[in-house]
Amino acid sequence: MSALPKTKQTGFDIERIRADFPILSEKVYGKPLVFLDSGASAQKPRAVIDAMTQMYEHTYANVHRGIYALSQQATDAYEKAREKIAHFIGTRDVREVVFTRNATEAINLVAHSWGWKNLKAGDEVLITHLEHHANIVPWQILGERYGVVLKVAPINDRGELIWDEFVKLIGPKTKLIALAHVSNTLGTILPVADVIRIAHDKGVKVLIDGSQAVQHMPVDVKALDADFYVFTGHKLYGPTGIGVLYAKAEILEGMPPWQGGGDMILSVSFEKTEYNDIPHRFEAGTPAFVEAVGLGAAIDYVQSIGLEAIATHEADLTAYAMEKLSAINSLRIIGTAEHKAGVISFVLEGIHPHDIGTILDREGIAVRVGQHCAHPLMERFGVPATVRASFGMYNTRAEIDALCAGLRRVREIFG
Ligand code: ALA
Repeated sequence: MSALPKTKQTGFDIERIRADFPILSEKVYGKPLVFLDSGASAQKPRAVIDAMTQMYEHTYANVHRGIYALSQQATDAYEKAREKIAHFIGTRDVREVVFTRNATEAINLVAHSWGWKNLKAGDEVLITHLEHHANIVPWQILGERYGVVLKVAPINDRGELIWDEFVKLIGPKTKLIALAHVSNTLGTILPVADVIRIAHDKGVKVLIDGSQAVQHMPVDVKALDADFYVFTGHKLYGPTGIGVLYAKAEILEGMPPWQGGGDMILSVSFEKTEYNDIPHRFEAGTPAFVEAVGLGAAIDYVQSIGLEAIATHEADLTAYAMEKLSAINSLRIIGTAEHKAGVISFVLEGIHPHDIGTILDREGIAVRVGQHCAHPLMERFGVPATVRASFGMYNTRAEIDALCAGLRRVREIFG
């Protein structure tokens, strides 16, 4: 890789952005926090914290249940958040946005509602070798219960889908292809538009796990023609406890409820219950409406910066980090795909990732170490675990320099 210029002009006011995230001025062991674990959960801008505080202080009451002013204000704010999310991902139909607890719950919802109704013994769900456990285990559970068969498309040594092998695995029994948009461990950006095109040619539905994508690049579910697209709020600078299932309205209409309770019904008697319309049919119980409002504020914030600008900034960080990390003695990067988002996994020969993580922590540098909820992927690359640095819009080249200095210190300690 050729040497990169010291600074890159992106028109991106990094200092102003960093000032919007209160936690970034924290110190850890007396050192400035270098937060390189946004893939696990991103930090929150003041706008998100304020939106949630404002609701708790001024407009808090349960939604869809009260005729009094506070409940109506809260309901309006909750439904307004749904509208923001719909527009953010490219649909104008708010009925296509179901609030869930996180992306994991959204995938489980599809498995246990759509899968329960549409899949039978011998039908196949095709995933890839780089999936997070959240996009493996729900399909295995369907296998145990109903005899659904899990097929796995291989990846190459760079961590990219092997297209020809993938296509060969789509057969007459394939009913669903479920894959990540961006790998949480390798950062690989998968060719989801091509996957959807070929799947639809063969009458197969597609679920995209966008948990590691929506914070890094513009996503348009309608342009993609995705059947299902899931993501979580907390990696998108929003709060925990809120996630999203997007599904085409005609698919959602045909799906049975998966959890029963309040709000998902129109009428209940002991003899018969009539279910609510979409999306409420899938939102049993009091929803995480303050978190939904927080996610709406996160989306406003991200849009005020602009996803194109964020993507450009993070592409620069990724290229810089790949170059600097590659120069470190006996460091092996796991995942070198041509199309890669700001997620870099690596190992240092002879040093356990947990030791690396612990030493970096003492320097104020937060990275994730371990298997990243992707055990099969670790096996594929023959490593027990990796160190993972993952970037958010607020990271800087100076922080990557700090990571590299920390890794050189690790090397010195271990000789
Ligand atoms: N799925 C999150 C990660 O990749 C927690 O770290």
